[in-house]
Amino acid sequence: MVPTRSWWCLICVCVFWPIHAIIQEPQNIRLNSVMLNSVLLWDPSNFSEGNVTYTIQYESLKSDFIDLCRRIYFTECNISNTPKYSLANLRIRAEFENKQSHWIYFNFTPFKDTIIIPPIVQIIPRKPGILDVYLQSPPVILNDNRYSLKDFYGSMVYKIKIWMNASEQVITNVTTPHTLYVISGLDTGITYCLKAQVFIEELNKPGEWSKATCTQTINSTNIVGTDQVTVTVIFLTVLAFIFFCCCMIGCTYRWIKYCFFPSYSLPQHFIQFLNHPYHSSQFLESQSQGEDHNYDMLTVLSERSKQCNSKSENKMSNIKQELQGSQEDTIRPKEISSCTTLLHV
Ligand SMILES: *[C@@H]1O[C@H](CO)[C@@H](O)[C@H](O)[C@H]1NC(C)=O
Ligand SMILES: *[C@@H]1O[C@H](CO)[C@@H](O)[C@H](O)[C@H]1NC(C)=O
Ligand SMILES: *[C@@H]1O[C@H](CO)[C@@H](O)[C@H](O)[C@H]1NC(C)=O
Ligand SMILES: *[C@@H]1O[C@H](CO)[C@@H](O)[C@H](O)[C@H]1NC(C)=O
Ligand SMILES: *[C@@H]1O[C@H](CO)[C@@H](O)[C@H](O)[C@H]1NC(C)=O
Ligand SMILES: *[C@@H]1O[C@H](CO)[C@@H](O)[C@H](O)[C@H]1NC(C)=O
Repeated sequence: MVPTRSWWCLICVCVFWPIHAIIQEPQNIRLNSVMLNSVLLWDPSNFSEGNVTYTIQYESLKSDFIDLCRRIYFTECNISNTPKYSLANLRIRAEFENKQSHWIYFNFTPFKDTIIIPPIVQIIPRKPGILDVYLQSPPVILNDNRYSLKDFYGSMVYKIKIWMNASEQVITNVTTPHTLYVISGLDTGITYCLKAQVFIEELNKPGEWSKATCTQTINSTNIVGTDQVTVTVIFLTVLAFIFFCCCMIGCTYRWIKYCFFPSYSLPQHFIQFLNHPYHSSQFLESQSQGEDHNYDMLTVLSERSKQCNSKSENKMSNIKQELQGSQEDTIRPKEISSCTTLLHV
């Protein structure tokens, strides 16, 4: 009985082993990981009976395997959801109906193995012999969220290579943590080219070099032209500003004058009184017959033209003469020092 059972077992193995072995493992497995977006690729299995499916799993911390892609027909699988900083153990196999190939195992650490694309480089020739280099770190986009490389790597710097387009020999290698680097001491009016890469110092991991970007430094003659334009613009601006200030001051002055010193005219009867000094002296006479009156000093200021002044001075002298004439008689005004018109424009 025992030999018979062994034979049956042997027959079973002979029958089922080839079926199991018929499905070939996925071939030429490769990883395409760029900016922490990782995709696994492979060649299709050689199987004639039908379309083969594939399953990819990774080993979690609890040592059980979790599906990343399950029974897919394509020959690629997005494996970006594995932890970024730890070594991921992955495995892949091919399947057809209830038959499977052997598992194929491999390892992968996203933050070490991923490719860092070049930074965006912009060169601005600002002065003769000086180039401003602006660097922009490439973004990491995961699940539609945008992250900076600095969110994943601690010590990130940029490396820059500079050469003259004519000679193609590197003249400077630069390492900088900043996104703006000023290259000085270059010749004027010469075309320089540069390339930049991101460099992760902690891992000694270089990113990809950018394409060569070339720019001509400013000619020293050009700067004079630029300066003339600048000076003219500044000069015109200052002129415009001064003109504006003058206008403002003028307007303010008029406004203040209008508000606080409105144009002013003497009462009509007072003007008449001044225009007819004879009557006024009579008036004074009638008022001061036989009495001694004290007169306050009357001061009238004029801002009118000198013509006006001279007119009023004439009037004033007339009044004075009249007063002096009558003074000898009965009227003795104690003090009338001056008399002018108070007239504002
Ligand atoms: C696929 O199978 C054919 C024959 O069925 C064979 O000639 C070919 O070499 C196989 N290819 C691979 C990659 O194994
Ligand atoms: C295999 O897949 C192709 C397309 O990828 C499809 O046209 C074909 O019908 C499939 N064959 C089977 C047996 O499922
Ligand atoms: C892979 O998956 C990640 C996260 O699930 C997603 O952000 C990314 O766009 C996917 N990449 C591709 C090539 O589908
Ligand atoms: C750089 O030099 C090459 C020849 O060496 C020339 O074809 C190219 O136009 C130059 N580029 C610039 C921006 O001057
Ligand atoms: C710049 O670095 C390269 C290697 O990356 C080296 O061959 C070259 O001599 C260096 N040039 C200068 C000027 O330091
Ligand atoms: C700068 O000067 C050089 C000669 O010194 C001339 O060939 C070049 O065209 C000038 N470039 C500009 C932008 O004026």
